[in-house]
Amino acid sequence: MSFSSQSRTVPSSILIIGSGVFGLSTAFSLSKNPLFKNSSITLVDRQQFPAPDGSSIDSSRIIRSDYASPAYTRLASAAQVHWRTTYRDHYHENGLCLTASGPEQTYVTESLANVQSLGTCKVQVLKSQDEIKKVSGTTNASGSIGYVNWSSGWADAEGAMRQLYAQVSATGRVNFVTDTVTRLLISHSTTAVTGVQLSSNRTLTADLTILAAGAWTPSLLDLRGVAKSTGQILCYLPLNPTEQSVLAPKPTLLNLSNGLFMIPPSNGTLKIARHGHGYTNPVTLPNPERPESGETITVSLPMTVVDDPNLEVPIEGQRECRAFLSQLHPELSTRPFTKTRICWYTDTRTGDFLISHHPKYTGLFVATGGSGHAFKFLPVIGDQIVECVLGQTPEDFRGKWEWPARAVPEEAWEGDGSRGGPVEMVLGEEIAKGNRRGKL
Ligand SMILES: Cc1cc2nc3c(=O)[nH]c(=O)nc-3n(C[C@H](O)[C@H](O)[C@H](O)COP(=O)(O)OP(=O)(O)OC[C@H]3O[C@@H](n4cnc5c(N)ncnc54)[C@H](O)[C@@H]3O)c2cc1C
Ligand SMILES: *[C@@H]1O[C@H](CO)[C@@H](O)[C@H](O)[C@H]1NC(C)=O
Ligand SMILES: *[C@@H]1O[C@H](CO)[C@@H](O)[C@H](O)[C@H]1NC(C)=O
Ligand SMILES: *[C@@H]1O[C@H](CO)[C@@H](O)[C@H](O)[C@H]1NC(C)=O
Ligand SMILES: *[C@@H]1O[C@H](CO)[C@@H](O)[C@H](O)[C@H]1NC(C)=O
Ligand SMILES: *[C@@H]1O[C@H](CO)[C@@H](O)[C@H](O)[C@H]1NC(C)=O
Ligand SMILES: *[C@@H]1O[C@H](CO)[C@@H](O)[C@H](O)[C@H]1NC(C)=O
Repeated sequence: MSFSSQSRTVPSSILIIGSGVFGLSTAFSLSKNPLFKNSSITLVDRQQFPAPDGSSIDSSRIIRSDYASPAYTRLASAAQVHWRTTYRDHYHENGLCLTASGPEQTYVTESLANVQSLGTCKVQVLKSQDEIKKVSGTTNASGSIGYVNWSSGWADAEGAMRQLYAQVSATGRVNFVTDTVTRLLISHSTTAVTGVQLSSNRTLTADLTILAAGAWTPSLLDLRGVAKSTGQILCYLPLNPTEQSVLAPKPTLLNLSNGLFMIPPSNGTLKIARHGHGYTNPVTLPNPERPESGETITVSLPMTVVDDPNLEVPIEGQRECRAFLSQLHPELSTRPFTKTRICWYTDTRTGDFLISHHPKYTGLFVATGGSGHAFKFLPVIGDQIVECVLGQTPEDFRGKWEWPARAVPEEAWEGDGSRGGPVEMVLGEEIAKGNRRGKL
């Protein structure tokens, strides 16, 4: 493979596809790095920034660094330093309260043993429903055992992305293009990617193309067995100013047993969501690597309000969010949601990101596979991606971020063990069961 020779050459033109956390932070890092001083940098997105259905654009994202994996803990801790300084206007260190009931209690109990052995003073163990209620400010407890880490918090995701966008723009180094990439320009005789074709039929050429199209990435590259898109649910509830001020300082609540979580309100809106196995949305399309061949592939791809302005979370999902809300805050149980949204994860087999040169095509680098936990890395992920572009994948992420040695059938994926709720749901089937907001 030509990785090492490839890695030492600094490309004179770089094209990034996607202005989410992965793409935008890469653009920022490249634009500040003296090695790339003479390289042209272009960033193309199908939507004007901020993409209304981009996974990086939302009212909130959890920021925490208590990973089971030391590598992610290290990186998340580094990111948190920036959240507390550079991005402090968008960061709220309110704590994160993890609870469980039933089989998942074992997980919490074991983590707690760890916590106690570390003697972390910012972690408060919650041994009873009453202690959970007291910390979370709810009428009812979200589990029977848990702990709150007061060093975690949440960020206004759109606000932070806007700040990053402004910082990138201010460098004057990045040429922003709004257009949809319809295909990569792949030469099969030289196995090289030389750029992209756009929906306006224009082409953009580059020495290096960095594909960071989030959950849409599998529409541009055959990622079967490597990455797949899953739809996750979000419901937003309006609060009055009193409710807002009472709940705003409380910690985020995450019920590990069912994956449901609630992020403290901002701007009079409380958010309820599920970190789950999600919905797949299977679509059959021409093989993106050989569109002329007549061959088709079937992959899960996002369906969002951009595709269908009336799209709402299916009844199954609204019902779960509603039940979570009703149990915690019975007084809010009949209030209709302001809006609901399906947001797309790009899942990998292990939950590790995919930040790698393509194993076959030269001139192509992929930065995706957020697996529902990449947002918190906004301040640091771009620098890491650039290191990987240069062939210097951080030691502790080798074998994690690099292209997997083989594709594994999606049914056999083990995941990262963090998801709750139902499995194997297909979006179209759930939608067919009904999804009118306000009925629940
Ligand atoms: C509901 C939800 C909750 C989450 N919660 C957390 C959390 O609490 N903490 C955390 O750390 N992480 C969380 N995450 C994960 C995190 O938000 C994602 O991992 C991250 O935002 C993914 O960024 P991205 O750059 O890969 O994708 P995106 O932000 O979606 O960016 C991809 C971009 O590519 C563009 N694009 C797509 N196709 C094309 C094309 N053909 N041509 C041109 N442009 C194209 C899109 O318009 C989009 O702007 C959550 C994600 C979701 C969905
Ligand atoms: C950029 O180009 C200038 C002028 O050609 C050259 O002197 C310099 O070494 C180049 N810098 C890099 C980092 O390639
Ligand atoms: C709240 O509203 C302000 C002003 O419109 C906006 O800048 C900010 O991003 C919003 N906060 C969140 C968390 O959505
Ligand atoms: C609590 O959070 C801090 C900082 O985010 C982290 O370093 C620590 O490992 C966390 N502790 C636990 C037990 O989650
Ligand atoms: C948390 O999840 C468990 C398992 O599904 C459930 O029994 C419990 O009621 C949940 N708590 C809340 C508040 O939803
Ligand atoms: C692009 O080219 C295709 C086929 O050559 C044509 O059908 C289509 O109308 C063109 N689109 C634009 C925007 O010019
Ligand atoms: C509190 O939760 C328990 C289940 O954990 C449930 O049986 C009970 O009805 C709830 N109380 C209220 C007031 O919702």
